Amino acid sequence: MLITTDVTKAVKAIASGHLCAIPTETVYGLGADATNPNAISRVFVAKGRPTDHPLIVHVANVTAAYEWVSELPEWATVLTHAVWPGPLTIVAKRTALATDQITGGQETVAVRVPKHPLTLDLLNQLNVLGIIGLVAPSANTFGHVSPTNANHVEHDLGEYLSAHEDLILDGGQCAVGLESTIVLATGDQPIILRPGSLTASGIEEITGVKVITNNNESPRVSGSLASHYAPNAKVIIVDEAELANLEVIKNAGLIALAAIPTLRYTYRIGSPRTSVEFARELYSTLRNADDLDLKVVYVVPPPGSGLAQAILDRINRAAN
Ligand code: TXA
Ligand code: MG
Repeated sequence: MLITTDVTKAVKAIASGHLCAIPTETVYGLGADATNPNAISRVFVAKGRPTDHPLIVHVANVTAAYEWVSELPEWATVLTHAVWPGPLTIVAKRTALATDQITGGQETVAVRVPKHPLTLDLLNQLNVLGIIGLVAPSANTFGHVSPTNANHVEHDLGEYLSAHEDLILDGGQCAVGLESTIVLATGDQPIILRPGSLTASGIEEITGVKVITNNNESPRVSGSLASHYAPNAKVIIVDEAELANLEVIKNAGLIALAAIPTLRYTYRIGSPRTSVEFARELYSTLRNADDLDLKVVYVVPPPGSGLAQAILDRINRAAN
C-alpha cells in the first residue's frame, strides 16, 4: 500500500532513502532526504522535472532552517519567526549543506517550515535521527496541476513510486490549496518570486518593510514559467459580463464564485463562496474537469487583491 497515515512508516521510508509524499497546508510535496543525492535524483525522475529547477528544503523549525541558510536580512528573520510554520518559502544565501543538486547550481536555497501536523511530526522525528531537511517539490507531474489530496499524488506519480518502499502520507485535503508564497531574502527588501496566500501587504505588516512584487520572471522559478499548473482541458479566463455571450461549446465547464449564475450549456464544476474556498478547491476542480473529459473550462477569477491575485496568477498559467 502506497497511501498511509502512519508517520512512523514515513520516518522509516525517508531514513531508508525512499520517497514519501507529504501533506502540507499548501499542496502535497514529494519528499526525500535532502542529504541523500540518490533519493533526490528519483524525485526529479518521478516528476519529469528538469534537473536545473531548484527544490524547496522543508524543515521542522526556524533553527533547522538556519542549517541551510547562511545569511538572512533582519526583516526575513522577523518574517520567518512570525509566519512559520506557514505558507512562506524564503530564498536566501545557502550553506554548504545545500548542494548544487538542490539549488540548481545557484548560490541561494529555498527553505520553508510547512504547517501540517503529520508532516511536522515527521520532520521532528527525522531531526532526532539527524535528517534535518526534506526536499519536496509539489507532488505532481512537471507542468501539471499541483496535488491537494493523497489520491492526486497517486494519480500523477503512482507508477514511479515503489508500492513496497515509497509512501504517500495521507493528511487529508490541503487547507490553502495554492503553493507557498516565495520571497527572495537576499536584500534590504522582500521580493515576491511567486505569489501565494501570504500577501505582500501581509509581509509589509509583519516586517514594516516595503515589498517588491514585480518579479522579472526568473526562469529558475518553475512556477513562473508562462505555462504551468495546467490541466488537459483548455482553460479560458472570462469576466462575469462576458459569460452571457460565450460561444456554445460541447463539454465546457464553469468555475465561478457561487454568487455568479450558471450558464446554460456548461457544467458548473466549481462554486466556491469566497476567495479562500476558490484557492482551496481550484486544483481539485481542474482535475475533476479532466476526469469528466471536459474540453474547455471557463474560469471567472475572484475580484480583489491579495489571495485573489495569487489565484489569478495560477489561472493565467493554467490558461497558457
Ligand atoms: O507550497 C509549496 O511551496 C509546495 C509545498 C510542497 O511545500 N512546494 C512547491 O515546490 O511548490 P515546487 O518545487 O513545485 O516549486 C518550488 C519553486 C520552484 O518554482 C523553484 O524554481 C523555486 O521554488 N525555487 C527553489 N529554489 C529556488 C532558488 N534558489 N531561487 C529561486 N527559486 C527557487
Ligand atoms: Mg510545482
